Amino acid sequence: MSQQPVLLPYADPAFVADPFPLYRQLREDGPVRRAVIAGGLDAWLVTRYEDGLAALSDPRLSSDVRDASDPRLMQQLPETERESMLSNMLRSDPPDHTRLRRLVSKAFTARRVGELRPRIQEITDRLLDAVVPDGRAELVADFALPLPVTVISELLGVPMDDRYDFQRWTDDMLLRGAEMPDPAVVNEAWQRMRAYLTKLLENKRARPGDDLLSALITARDEEQRLNEDELIAMTFLLLVAGYITTVNLIGGGIATLLANPRQLELLRGDPELLPGAIEEFLRFDGPVSPGIARFAREEVEIAGVTVPRGATVLIASAIADRDPARFTDPDRLDITRQDNAHLAFGHGIHYCLGAPLARLEGQIAIGTALRRLPGLALAVPPGELRWRPGGLRGPVQLPVTFSP
Ligand code: HEM
Repeated sequence: MSQQPVLLPYADPAFVADPFPLYRQLREDGPVRRAVIAGGLDAWLVTRYEDGLAALSDPRLSSDVRDASDPRLMQQLPETERESMLSNMLRSDPPDHTRLRRLVSKAFTARRVGELRPRIQEITDRLLDAVVPDGRAELVADFALPLPVTVISELLGVPMDDRYDFQRWTDDMLLRGAEMPDPAVVNEAWQRMRAYLTKLLENKRARPGDDLLSALITARDEEQRLNEDELIAMTFLLLVAGYITTVNLIGGGIATLLANPRQLELLRGDPELLPGAIEEFLRFDGPVSPGIARFAREEVEIAGVTVPRGATVLIASAIADRDPARFTDPDRLDITRQDNAHLAFGHGIHYCLGAPLARLEGQIAIGTALRRLPGLALAVPPGELRWRPGGLRGPVQLPVTFSP
């Protein structure tokens, strides 16, 4: 394809605040569009829904970074960590993927997750108790962030006091915006994270509990179903995947509602609409944006375009989820929308393991906030909200006011 890669302008605040005009243009340009994405990486964007669905179930597109030809992808990881931190299910193909996912899949079924409802409600209420008397809050730091961090930490058996450390290292490790992150900072964060996880698992071995990490340690030590690197990589993945996106679903969902007062009123009037509203927030402006990376194991033709071996293919779920060929009036937020099978949780064998948990947390968090914070409104004009650039999307802060 002769097309020049288009640059996703993460340094431009207007794009970061609202990437959808450019997303739309990319989709209209063609089904596969070369682009320079977060971290300055060159990718082939799959922009339309049906092609995205097909690409996510195409075994020629690998999840393993070692199949990528762009060495910068590997260079984001310190050499010592490349093997160990990559041996997680998200970055594996079958048969390793199948084995690793099976080890934890039972803990994340809708039924098992449903048992967490009372505890999630309790954490939600406690966080809101702390802000209700003030009549104002910063809902990312006060609410959207601590809720999923607490839930996943309890599920895994991670001490709450450790959360500030792992949050900081995660922040340092993730790609943000157009620039490659400083390798020294990334390196340091990885080393610290690995040292922390090693120590955490050591402590769990000494004092097992009724939690997921203790169960995984048994699978490792007594049943040899995974090796030590895989155990560390699994812990890392569950811990980080378990909160980083859900913060953005809760914060982004509330921000989206506050910018759409009629939908807000509709939802206030009928809490039964909540599950559908969560799906619509995910479709309309999901946390994974523009999408999900794969690496071409061989030359692949996608929608008539030849993609070379080793290329990074980005299934642009956030662009495909507004494809007018799939969704009626796709740029309109409609919490009553039916037939809303969006790609925000992916599709196929890597479909988000935590989707039932994220949905439940989103419903409880947003439903309870609307109930307990009457007159909820943004404390700044919507245009002044800052959004996270690149990769994972959501408001950096969400200052609000309400009636105490
Ligand atoms: C996979 C999105 C919450 C754990 C994925 C994928 C997406 C995604 C798009 C597919 C990645 C791919 O195909 O390469 C989201 C969103 C969330 C969310 C938008 C919140 C709104 C969670 C939570 C957990 C979690 C709460 C809890 C542990 C995982 C895991 C995978 C995954 C382990 C890898 C599954 C596999 O490779 O088989 N997620 N996620 N996610 N997610 Fe989530």
